[in-house]
Amino acid sequence: MVHGSEVITIERFIMEQERLYPEATGELSNLLYDMCLAAKIISRHVRRAGLSDILGAAEAVNVSGDLQQKLDLFANETVRNSVQYTGRVCITASEEDERPVPVPESRSAGKYVVLYDPLDGSTNIDVNVSIGTIFSIHKRLSKKNGAGLADCLQVGKKQVAAGYILYGSSTMLVYTTGQGVHGFTLDPTIGEFLLSHPDIRTPPVGKYYSVNESNWNRWSPPVQRVVAAFKNGEGKVQPKNARYIGSLVADFHRNLISGGIFLYPAASNYPQGKLRLLYEAAPLAMVVEQAGGRATDGCRPILDLVPTDLHQRTPLVIGSKDDVAFAARVLGAEAAVAVK
Ligand code: AHG
Ligand code: MN
Ligand code: MN
Repeated sequence: MVHGSEVITIERFIMEQERLYPEATGELSNLLYDMCLAAKIISRHVRRAGLSDILGAAEAVNVSGDLQQKLDLFANETVRNSVQYTGRVCITASEEDERPVPVPESRSAGKYVVLYDPLDGSTNIDVNVSIGTIFSIHKRLSKKNGAGLADCLQVGKKQVAAGYILYGSSTMLVYTTGQGVHGFTLDPTIGEFLLSHPDIRTPPVGKYYSVNESNWNRWSPPVQRVVAAFKNGEGKVQPKNARYIGSLVADFHRNLISGGIFLYPAASNYPQGKLRLLYEAAPLAMVVEQAGGRATDGCRPILDLVPTDLHQRTPLVIGSKDDVAFAARVLGAEAAVAVK
């Protein structure tokens, strides 16, 4: 928010937020700054992607079977290097690393865990379409020097912070620590994230529906009914406008601001859904719930799902609360029928 000469930088905002927690030690605030640094570095490379040798495939495949882009790997290293040296984190886990990466014994390990999707929307990198970074922050469970997988496999409702960076027409950082959702826009002329969207609230009914309709014949009939309702209207559900970018962060952010619903349902080619629970669905679920929205796997709240595998996938229905509730009524009925 810029009132004349007054600018509220993310550093100032985080400090003011920290004062809400008398017991705060400042480590989470400093970790959020570390994420800001990573965001600025990745943003600089994204903005120059066509000019530097950062485009294209890296001729490698990640554990999920996705072809890794050079920017995936650059962003992966950038986030890890931005958080692993400052003593606030004990372990990180990323879409691009098969296993979690503990902070080396030689360095001081902190009390936080960072799970992240370093570059979301990779197929859009080379065609100059908006892409993002998603992060989830948990408190460690293990005692000193024992950080491991168990610190990463935590249920979404225990996240202490979550957010994303959107490399769009401007670079925005949106995060929550459980005290509302706040958006900051990078002013590249001064290299600062400035408060531009304080206390984001998402409308209860969305203008948009976002789903890859080429999967139509791979969906169950109840999923087809839900998507048809958002397309054509059904009962109280009015027809919505279709918007699908193919970058979860970009689709999610537009729907968060304008109201909308994003769906990546289970399909015959993705029986568990395509998106990953720990570093895509859970962090965005925390953000959307803090903004008054909802997120489910079709029936169950994403934040209640207990992970068993670092890269496990989940169906995802996320956005305006009345639209997510409609989908859950239809899909939940399906699940109830399926259980009988
Ligand atoms: P990532 O680039 O991190 O693998 O994520 C891509 C995801 C998500 O960003 C997007 O919503 C979805 O893949 C698009 O998948 P489809 O092309 O199957 O629709
Ligand atoms: Mn992703
Ligand atoms: Mn990714």
